[in-house]
Parts: sequence; structure tokens; C-alpha cells
Amino acid sequence: MRVTKAELHQLIQDKIHKAGLSKEHAGIVSDVLTFADARGIHSHGAMRVEYYSERIAKGGITQEPKFNFEKTGPSCGVFEGDNGSGFVAAEKAMDHAIEIAKETGVAVIGVRNISHSGALAYYVERAAEKDLVAVSVCQSDPMVVPFGGSEPFFGTNPIAFAAPSNDERIITFDMATTVQAWGKILHARSRKESIPDTWAVDEQGNPTTDSTKVNALVPISGAKGYGLMMMVDVLSGVLLGVPFGKHVSSMYHDLSKGRELGQLHIVINPEFFVGLDTFKQTISTMLDELKTVAPSAGFKEVNYPGERGRMREKNYEENGIEIVDDIYQYLISDDIHYDRYDHKNKFAE
Ligand code: NAI
Repeated sequence: MRVTKAELHQLIQDKIHKAGLSKEHAGIVSDVLTFADARGIHSHGAMRVEYYSERIAKGGITQEPKFNFEKTGPSCGVFEGDNGSGFVAAEKAMDHAIEIAKETGVAVIGVRNISHSGALAYYVERAAEKDLVAVSVCQSDPMVVPFGGSEPFFGTNPIAFAAPSNDERIITFDMATTVQAWGKILHARSRKESIPDTWAVDEQGNPTTDSTKVNALVPISGAKGYGLMMMVDVLSGVLLGVPFGKHVSSMYHDLSKGRELGQLHIVINPEFFVGLDTFKQTISTMLDELKTVAPSAGFKEVNYPGERGRMREKNYEENGIEIVDDIYQYLISDDIHYDRYDHKNKFAE
């Protein structure tokens, strides 16, 4: 089923509003989810609407949160999310970061007590579109073994980075710190396929190729990815006083309780360093020079991070976004949710 971005946006906004968020908040949730689908990050788009709707309806996402932003220093602050929608809190916190970085050169803003905030690229690009450089990191469910361990401890803790160029190109680097997203294991399971032995481990902590035996994911590049996911947890968890490591809540554990997650935005104003014009021109030159690198076997050219997502977006603008039929039927239905996610084991489906 193919839909236009505008139609998808309206359907998601209506559903999230019906589940209990205000029209404004539902609109922001839909902005981030349709952004993800338009860029081809379908794991963080419309397929999650039913889960969010169930959590909103059951009170695990505060329907009318009391957001509060406290500036705790000239260039830093903490945004209290009151376990409201992570999408809304993260966007509003990024807008504070943008304002402060414009004025002081840098902003470090913590977002605490929030629910899932989806694809982090959305937030860092918001800053890059305003001529700023941004990094955003956040916590997620503990489902990854620490290097050398056999039990899950940290989350897939993503890191996103964006920087503007002198033209329409924006570098958008956005990744989970695991070799593969959980969605890829689910995909293999649904097709009864095996997985490479580098993606995940079984109950004993041994690498497995059996997608049904997966008990935890593994960090990218062994000890290095493990260090990165720990860094993310320190910056977006410990620093903000929310639960850390294996104490971080699970997505499906109890949908009536707030998740108390943390996220950190770091925004830098190039004007206070090399100067904005020089910065943007140099990024453009860097991207141009990357295009002159001879491609290796199997590649047509070297892409910059975020380029392929933008190509997908262009294609979707022309041909519509591909949405799974069941998800479309749910979105156009009158139902808020089908009670499918509460207390589900995080490794079950
Ligand atoms: P991925 O593996 O699809 O891409 C990672 C990065 O590599 C992207 O910046 C992409 O532009 C770049 N890339 C990929 N192929 C490339 C190529 N050929 N040339 C140049 N660059 C290339 O991303 P991943 O790790 O699967 O993450 C997907 C999304 O999941 C992200 O948006 C992330 O923020 C989100 N996520 C959110 C979580 C949360 O709790 N909020 C938890 C984990 C992930």
C-alpha cells in the first residue's frame, strides 16, 4: 500500500490524538514518525503507532505532561519530560538548545523522564537546518551484552550527528550502537531464516545463527561499541539522574508506567569556532571530495551519511511511501489499539 507523506501524517496524528495526546503533541509525534518512514527508517515509523497508542491510552505516556525547562547554566539546561511523549519533549528541548547555542556558541541540554523518541536524526537535523552542528544520544531498553558478558545490560543506545553544508546537503549520521537492530532479528524469525553469527548471542552468551535462540544483541566492533553504548548511557542516563544500564525500563514491560528515559542534545554554533561560512564551505568541499574517491567493488559511488535516506525520500515524494497493509488498515480503523503489547517479553516478537 502506497500513501503520500501528507496522508500518512494525518492518519498518524489522528490516531495518536484519539489515543489521548493533544492535537499539537500528536502532530509532533507524527512529524517524527513520517520523517522516519520517508527516509526509509521503517523500524521507527508507522509500524510503532499502535504500540505508542496503547501506551498513551494506558497512561504509560502522560497525556497532558507538565513539561518544565530549567536553564541550569549559561549554556546548559534540563528539560523535565514528566513521562510525556519522548518525541515532543526531545523536539522542544532541541529548540531550547538551538536558541542557547545561537546566543552562547554551545548548548548541552538534558531531556529526562521521557518515553521513546524514535529516530534521532530528526532532532539533530532540526539544528543543522538552523546552521548548527548537533549530537544527540539516548537510552533504550537493556538488550545488549556488554563486551565479555553473557547477559543483557545496556540498550541499543543510539548516537546521531548532523552538520550543515553550503548547499542543500546535510550530513546526518544516525546509528544504534549494536551490530544490528532488533527489527532485523524479527524479520529473520518471521521468514524462518538464520542470521550471521556476528549479530546476537543465545542464553549462554554464545554467538548464534538461530534467530529464534537470540537472547541479546551485541555491540558494534566488540569493546569499542561497548564503550560507546556505555558513554551514551552515562551522558543521557547517569548525568540526568534517571535509571542506568540494566535498570532502564523495557519498552513492553508495563504500559501503564512511565519509562523514565534520558536523552542529551549537544549543539555547537560554528560561528563561534572557524566561522559559519568557512565551516559550511569546508563541509561542502569535503562532500565533493568524497565523491571523487574511486568506489570499491559492489559500490557505484561513495555516499555521505544521510544521503541514501534523502534519495529514498525523493523517491517516496514521487511514488508514495510503502506501508504494510495491516498497518494501513489499523491506521484507517476506528480502533485505538488491540491490547497486543503490554507485558510482552522484549525478545518475544
Ligand atoms: P543504519 O545502520 O541503517 O545506518 C547507520 C548510519 O550509516 C546512518 O547514518 C546511515 O546514513 C549511514 N549509512 C548507511 N549506509 C551507508 C552508506 N552506504 N554510505 C554512507 N553512509 C551510510 O542505522 P541503525 O543503526 O539501524 O539505526 C536506525 C535508526 O534507529 C536510527 O534512526 C536510530 O536513531 C534509531 N534508534 C533509536 C533508538 C531509540 O531508542 N530511540 C534505539 C536504537 C536505534
